[in-house]
Amino acid sequence: MGGMRAWPFLVLGALLVVGGIVAPGAPPAFAQGEAAPRRETHLGAGSCAASACHGDTKPKANEYTTWIQHDEHSEAYLHLTRGDGPKIAKRLGLSQPAREAPECLSCHAAAPQLYDHGDRYDMRWGVSCEICHGGSTQWLGPHAAPGWKEKSWGHKTALGMRDLSTPEQRVALCAGCHVGGQGNRTVDHDLIAAGHPPLFFDASAFMALKEPQWVHWTDETDLTQRTWFLGQVANLVAYLGRIERSAEDEKRWPDYAVFDCYSCHHDLDKDGHYATTEAVGPIGRPPFDAAFTSVLGRALAEMKPAAAQGLQTLGESLSAAYRNRDRAAVRESAASGASQARQFATAVESLDQAAASRILAWFDEHLDATEGLDHRIPRHEALQIAWAIHALVPNRQAQGFRAAYDELADSLSADGDYDPGVFAKKARAAIAAGR
Ligand code: HEC
Ligand code: HEC
Ligand code: HEC
Ligand code: HEC
Repeated sequence: MGGMRAWPFLVLGALLVVGGIVAPGAPPAFAQGEAAPRRETHLGAGSCAASACHGDTKPKANEYTTWIQHDEHSEAYLHLTRGDGPKIAKRLGLSQPAREAPECLSCHAAAPQLYDHGDRYDMRWGVSCEICHGGSTQWLGPHAAPGWKEKSWGHKTALGMRDLSTPEQRVALCAGCHVGGQGNRTVDHDLIAAGHPPLFFDASAFMALKEPQWVHWTDETDLTQRTWFLGQVANLVAYLGRIERSAEDEKRWPDYAVFDCYSCHHDLDKDGHYATTEAVGPIGRPPFDAAFTSVLGRALAEMKPAAAQGLQTLGESLSAAYRNRDRAAVRESAASGASQARQFATAVESLDQAAASRILAWFDEHLDATEGLDHRIPRHEALQIAWAIHALVPNRQAQGFRAAYDELADSLSADGDYDPGVFAKKARAAIAAGR
């Protein structure tokens, strides 16, 4: 089998270093993962654009301006109409062009199968305000009136506004498209083979690492280790949801994209995969994609060992279901695994700088051994480790951290050049620089 093509990834190169601390606070309930979107009517970004509303250039009044100028969500539909979008749909042999296909609109726009539209709705708005904040037919007027800010979330959600006031709610929203969710929000191996980027989520990469002036949602609470950890949980919960849905649908079964890509996409010569790596699990069966489990598992091991054991057991029961080629058992195991995984969020209370430093120390040691063994850390896992380093180092302002992190990012930026040994060295240098 030939080598992998380049996968588009988040550009890690040009990232601002942003300060972060561990935020104290009570643990609110973890949002129920990626619930199916509510059937609601969207009026469109045009209703938010007035300069007296969100179309100004001043902070706290510039959300529309930021979104239309810098936020890629406002381009999401346009990517279905030009460039790779139409090609992907064609290669898949979809019966409609990408800009009309439910398989694509589900995440790239206010898909008609999920939302109703007001008279002046324009699909080109892509991932626009109401997809994240809730259909505004009932709250558009009231929210502009005096006293709205003081109203309770109970009041606001009754009018259809979505409560995004906790990191739990925010990360579940993002993972519902950036990993997948109900309502046709699925990027499986067919889409990936047709050219779609593989999806996985990390809150520090998607919320905190973005240039803060390019997105309007990042505030201090998103830059914390707490949000990073909750993002890892949301990543796992949405991944289990993806496995569950793949097992519900015979046509999507089995979805190769839930497994470690390299377990199939490797050279089979004598210097290939198993000659240089230790097989994980039963030989000849692909392991799960470590981008969803490995960093979270390590964090839990240092924070709440019983939960790490729970994750291990969950993985074993899921593996067993796959080994037996038992679709119903895979579905059940993924569904009960997702409820269990939501509970991992409570471990966030054990995440202090001491725990963060233990996680980093483990990476430091493990990556060292890794270099020696020439174990091939899959690239997705390597990205998750890099993002974790960014979130967990005690001192991002330390002299040299920025430069070391940029080098780490560079080692992951071009797929063709990805070298696990170089990655390991750069990762250890970044950990040392952030001490
Ligand atoms: C589960 C949600 C989801 C579905 C379904 C989905 N996409 Fe995407 N798509 C995304 C996300 C999220 C990204 C951004 C990935 C990243 O950069 O991390 C993306 C990126 C892309 C890109 C790259 C855009 C760029 O910036 O270069 C193209 C092209 C694209 N999608 C086309 C499609 C097409 C065509 C379909 C339907 C066949 C589709 N997508 C279905 C979520 C989805
Ligand atoms: C991809 C999801 C997403 C999209 C699209 C989006 N937002 Fe947001 N928005 C958020 C998140 C997350 C927050 C942070 C929530 C919080 O801090 O309570 C936020 C915060 C806000 C806030 C600040 C709320 C406050 O109390 O400070 C405003 C105002 C806002 N968005 C308006 C808009 C407008 C107008 C648009 C469209 C032009 C838009 N948003 C599009 C996710 C989104
Ligand atoms: C309705 C689905 C949807 C939701 C919800 C959503 N996104 Fe996205 N997001 C997308 C799509 C689709 C793209 C790709 C846009 C493009 O380039 O075409 C994207 C792109 C992005 C990018 C740019 C990726 C890159 O490669 O640079 C970031 C960052 C991002 N989203 C963060 C978030 C965060 C943070 C949240 C939660 C607050 C969120 N998104 C919620 C669908 C979604
Ligand atoms: C169970 C085995 C298996 C796994 C796991 C797997 N693939 Fe594939 N993949 C295949 C096969 C088989 C093909 C089709 C062969 C071909 O087109 O050469 C393919 C084709 C592709 C292609 C298009 C052909 C090419 O070489 O460009 C891409 C891209 C791709 N896979 C990416 C991925 C990614 C990313 C992952 C992990 C998220 C993954 N694959 C996981 C078996 C697998």
